[in-house]
Amino acid sequence: MSVLIKNIKQLLQVHDHNELILKGDDMKHLSVIENAYLYIEHDTIIEYGDMEYCEGIDAEETIDATGRIVLPAWCDSHTHTVYAGDRTAEFVDRIHGLSYEEIAKNGGGILNSAKTLQNTSEDALFTQSMERLDELVRMGTGAIEIKTGYGLTVEAELKMLKVIKRIKNESLIKITPTLLAAHAIPQEYKKDKKAYVDKIINALIPQAAELNIAKYIDVFCEEGYFDLEDTEPILKAAQTYDLRPKIHVNQFNILGGVALGVKYNALSVDHLEELNDADIEALKGSDTIPVALPGCSYFLGIPYTPARKIIDAGLPLALASDYNPGSAPSGNMNFIVSSACVKLKMTPEEAINAATINGAYAMGISNMYGSITRGKKANVLVTKPMNHYREIAYNFSHNPIEHVIINGQLKPMKNPEENFRI
Ligand code: NIG
Ligand code: FE
Repeated sequence: MSVLIKNIKQLLQVHDHNELILKGDDMKHLSVIENAYLYIEHDTIIEYGDMEYCEGIDAEETIDATGRIVLPAWCDSHTHTVYAGDRTAEFVDRIHGLSYEEIAKNGGGILNSAKTLQNTSEDALFTQSMERLDELVRMGTGAIEIKTGYGLTVEAELKMLKVIKRIKNESLIKITPTLLAAHAIPQEYKKDKKAYVDKIINALIPQAAELNIAKYIDVFCEEGYFDLEDTEPILKAAQTYDLRPKIHVNQFNILGGVALGVKYNALSVDHLEELNDADIEALKGSDTIPVALPGCSYFLGIPYTPARKIIDAGLPLALASDYNPGSAPSGNMNFIVSSACVKLKMTPEEAINAATINGAYAMGISNMYGSITRGKKANVLVTKPMNHYREIAYNFSHNPIEHVIINGQLKPMKNPEENFRI
């Protein structure tokens, strides 16, 4: 199968050399070819360039992208897309004034989702999650990280991993699985948190490793959840199974999780709604990428991650949706890019870089995803007609995507109006 996309108004994120990450001032620049073509064979980007060099290229399928932007599909590096049910009652409680922390203290929050998930069959969980994923792909997501963390028993965490594995097998988009057994303290361990940490270390991690599905380890390092003394032994135990950390830190309080993440060579440290100078210093010179989740700040009404402080310090930054039923029930990366501009004061160039190449880095897959580079996977988006790529961020809450191409595959969608191709 070969596909030629021609007359592209602006082809974004083009790198002849395989860049793996963009940092600091380099994020200000988005490499663009105006009036371009893109040629795909099977699942791979083969060639691209100025339209004047397109002559003579024949493909089985041609898309005329006149007036449209083409870019790599979004790389969403932090999600909890596998969950059961919803938390709309808590949503209303928060409208009436209860905080996320207060709801959690009363047995709601993550424990509420865990109870629902434990009582949901693997098949039902798979079906619910696949429906969510289909919707995300339609909105342009081409690679996604998915965490466990709503099981909180060995059995239910393994059930989540098996569901993620089925999704990985059945969905064409790239999935990177993360084990987040340390997401909350189960009710029966409330008086003996250490016993749950021991269970994670001695039972959960080894049994999960046997399944060989998870690539990363996550911990919700936060007051009332897991502190540094809990987090460190979990990261240490995970190291022996080659599970690299991608951790939740600094959502409500600064505990020192950023420096701990760097110490254990975390791939990413995520949230950072609270951030101090020591955190910035800890990140400098490391291979750890900070990840901002503006959908969570929007939904909970908490501070936004200080992206300017991070980028202006010369650091990289990735953007992700944090899609989950409690703090961010949306995985729409177009909205994430837009809110990063409006609320985090990132430029459209920085936001697009953060949601493509840097998002791919935060999943450990930027050698194959996140940019228009020869030899990379052909996961690309064709937008609706627009005058400039800035409109992707400007028209907030719109779906700017007309075609989605995943692994070079073009399949007509159920709803022909959407021209969704996967
Ligand atoms: O990233 N902060 C911890 N985990 C999720 C929320 C999970 C939930 O409320 O269900 C987050 O915001
Ligand atoms: Fe999260």
